[in-house]
Amino acid sequence: MCGIVGYVGPKNVSEVLIGGLERLEYRGYDSAGVALMPHSKEDVLIKRCVGRVSALKDALKSVTGDFAQGIAHTRWATHGVPSEVNAHPHKAGRTFLVHNGIIENYLEIKEELQRQGQEFESQTDTEVFAHLIENIRYKLLAGRDFESLSLPEKISNVLESLKIGTQKVEGHYAILVMVAGLEGHLFGVQAGAPLVAGKLTDSLYIGSDLQALLPHLSDMHFLPAKTIFAGQINHLDFYDFDLKKKEIPMSRIDWSPDKIAKGGFDHFMLKEIFEQPSVVADTLSGRLPTEELGFLWDDLEKHKDLWKNVDRLHFVACGTAYYAALTAKYFFEKWARIPVEVDLASEFRYRNPVFTQNTVVGVVSQSGETADTLAALRLALDEKVKTFAVCNVPGSSISREANVNYQTKAGPEIGVASTKAFSTQLAILSALAQDVARMRGTLVNWQNEAESLARVPLLLEQVLTQSKTYLDMGASLERFKTILVVGRGLMYPISLEGALKIKEISYRHAEGYAAGELKHGPIALIDSSTCAIVLNPKDDVSAKTLSNLQEIKARSGWIIGLGVEKHDAFRKECNEYLALPEADWALSPMLYVVPLQLMAYGLAKQLGCDIDKPRNLAKSVTVE
Ligand code: G6P
Repeated sequence: MCGIVGYVGPKNVSEVLIGGLERLEYRGYDSAGVALMPHSKEDVLIKRCVGRVSALKDALKSVTGDFAQGIAHTRWATHGVPSEVNAHPHKAGRTFLVHNGIIENYLEIKEELQRQGQEFESQTDTEVFAHLIENIRYKLLAGRDFESLSLPEKISNVLESLKIGTQKVEGHYAILVMVAGLEGHLFGVQAGAPLVAGKLTDSLYIGSDLQALLPHLSDMHFLPAKTIFAGQINHLDFYDFDLKKKEIPMSRIDWSPDKIAKGGFDHFMLKEIFEQPSVVADTLSGRLPTEELGFLWDDLEKHKDLWKNVDRLHFVACGTAYYAALTAKYFFEKWARIPVEVDLASEFRYRNPVFTQNTVVGVVSQSGETADTLAALRLALDEKVKTFAVCNVPGSSISREANVNYQTKAGPEIGVASTKAFSTQLAILSALAQDVARMRGTLVNWQNEAESLARVPLLLEQVLTQSKTYLDMGASLERFKTILVVGRGLMYPISLEGALKIKEISYRHAEGYAAGELKHGPIALIDSSTCAIVLNPKDDVSAKTLSNLQEIKARSGWIIGLGVEKHDAFRKECNEYLALPEADWALSPMLYVVPLQLMAYGLAKQLGCDIDKPRNLAKSVTVE
């Protein structure tokens, strides 16, 4: 959570920082702040505000001055309520610091510093970190005046303080540090939370995500964990935690900056829903088999090695990515005949999972930085289990650390509620399951399945032609107290995802349920104030779903059916019916989720909710 931006260079510093924060606002948005260092020897200026980045932007309008550099932050509160005093940057003597993550032993350090007479103004762990660094840095000076030091001595003073500071601090975090009297320089630590750095001949850019840097440069360094850096214009030095220099290769990012603009849509979420046909096509492009060639993955040798002898597959993920994994269980079990378990990352990592010698662990993540998913991956790697990732953000921790990464090509997803990333996860997991089944000889007609999968972008286009109907239907849900989304088989995880979308952005009570499980509890919720969205794509469990529909109807629930055009037995039982194109079994998750996304959007809009930035949520959850 929390977005970090740093800049040194000739452009208008506050504009660069605010632009970066706006692009990172999906990481957290309960308060924001900047620290700006003037070219003159005047004091560093701090501005902090409760609320959105736009509030900070307004507050900065009255600020005049010629600034050389700055650091900035948008916060998702962990320690301390959202308030101006708890907002970052935090100042301690010469040290200005912004932070993402959690300092687990901050109380202990705080008490130690308090015993030395240090006073604190906020409740944050961040302020403690700032004082710790400043305290160490000051002691290292051993009475010398910082201003009287040579430039290399000043840099080394800061680097040493970061080295000792990180030894004292426990937790997963990233910090960005600016030191008064050291114009042109920024420092930072990557200790388990992401940091990206890039430079041009006249500037230096730092961010917690690549989106912060994207409009300015496309070549970036993704800092691995346990890295300290010292940066200045056109120069970056990277060190390990013992301050031994290390090289970090540069990665080229081909995400075009226009992908991070709304492009005429009211919200990023809506734009991203409409991008689904093209990003699914991008994700499958060059990977599906042709007559001469089998499936093509980026590193075929690693891919073959990963799946050789697999006898159990264990998926781990959070949120929407978890529902993509849950859907993939059906693909892998049906086609590849591999037993599949799917776990929430926050459960998996603490429950001592059992691995066989040929277990494969697959983690699914849009951001590639979700703390629990990353920890689950590391747990599997520590156990020497083979791992793979299905990850969207290039250069992210999960994509780098997994043995094999199958990258989805959704491009930047800015809306907090995940949509296009989900569709690309389903597409790639479906292709992967087909290929694993092909290798294991358990799916004879894999070519047909692959051909069918290639039709998804076209079918998605077709579904989207009905977008107005879905949006209006969503708006009409306003009158219900409870919304149930139900389905069986592949429609079960999709019902969970549909209900999640409704909850996330409209704050209406919604529950996804396996249709056959309704009578074991949630049926008690049903009365005339309940709407049930029934997903029923005329598959082999369709008749069973119809019986469950009757149970809802008998209790006065309002039924919206989602099914194919020609399914009279279903259509006539529904109060309202939305027809979708007929498609093979495995394609239905990708098609049926789209009306649900649009209905959630329509409802949230009707209720006046902040769709791209729902309350209390953050897109990338980098705390446990
Ligand atoms: C957060 C987001 C969700 C996302 C989940 C997992 O909760 O709000 O939209 O599905 O994290 O994120 P990941 O980046 O690992 O897919």
